[in-house]
Amino acid sequence: MLKLTNEQIWLIKSSWTHVIAYSDKAGDLFYRHFFALAPPAQDLFKDNLEIQNRKLLAAISLIVAKLPKIEHIEEELHSLSQRHRKYGVRPEYFEAFGKAFMNMLAEVMGEAWSDEMREIWEQVYQTMSEAIIKDMKHSETDI
Ligand code: HEM
Repeated sequence: MLKLTNEQIWLIKSSWTHVIAYSDKAGDLFYRHFFALAPPAQDLFKDNLEIQNRKLLAAISLIVAKLPKIEHIEEELHSLSQRHRKYGVRPEYFEAFGKAFMNMLAEVMGEAWSDEMREIWEQVYQTMSEAIIKDMKHSETDI
C-alpha cells in the first residue's frame, strides 16, 4: 500500500493541478518523450493524440483524487489493464511510459519542480503501473 504524508499528497495534488492547467503542452511533451523512448509504441495509438491525452489525464486525475487509497480503485485499474492488453500493450512499455511521464512533469513544472516531487510521483507511478502489470500478467496465465 502506498504510504504518503499529508504534505506529500498536497505536493502531488498541487503539481497535478498545474499539469491540468497546461494539459495541451503536457500532452505534446509526454507523447514526444514517450515515442522517442519507445518508437514502436506509436503504432499502437489509433486515436487522435489530443483525445487520447484528455483520456490519459482524466484517468490520472481520478487516481490522484483517490490518493493515498489507491486500492480503492482496484476495479478501475483492472479494467484499464484489460483494455491495455487488447490495445497490444506489453508490460515492457511501462518503464519508458514512466520516464516520459516524469520528464513531462519536470518540464511542465519548471522551476517549481523539486526532488521531493520527483520522489513522490515516482512512487505513485510505480504503484499504479505495478497494479496494471500485475493484473496483465495474471490474466496471461488465466487462459
Ligand atoms: C499508468 C499508466 C497508464 C495509464 C493510467 C493509461 C491510461 C489510458 C487511458 C485512460 C486510455 C483511454 C482508453 C481507455 O480507458 O481504455 C488509454 C489508452 C491507450 N493507452 Fe494507456 N495508460 C497507461 C499506460 C500505457 C502504456 C505503458 C502504453 C504503451 C504503449 C499505453 C498505450 C495505450 C494505447 C495504445 C491506448 C489506446 C489508444 C487508442 O485507442 O488509439 N498506455 N490509456
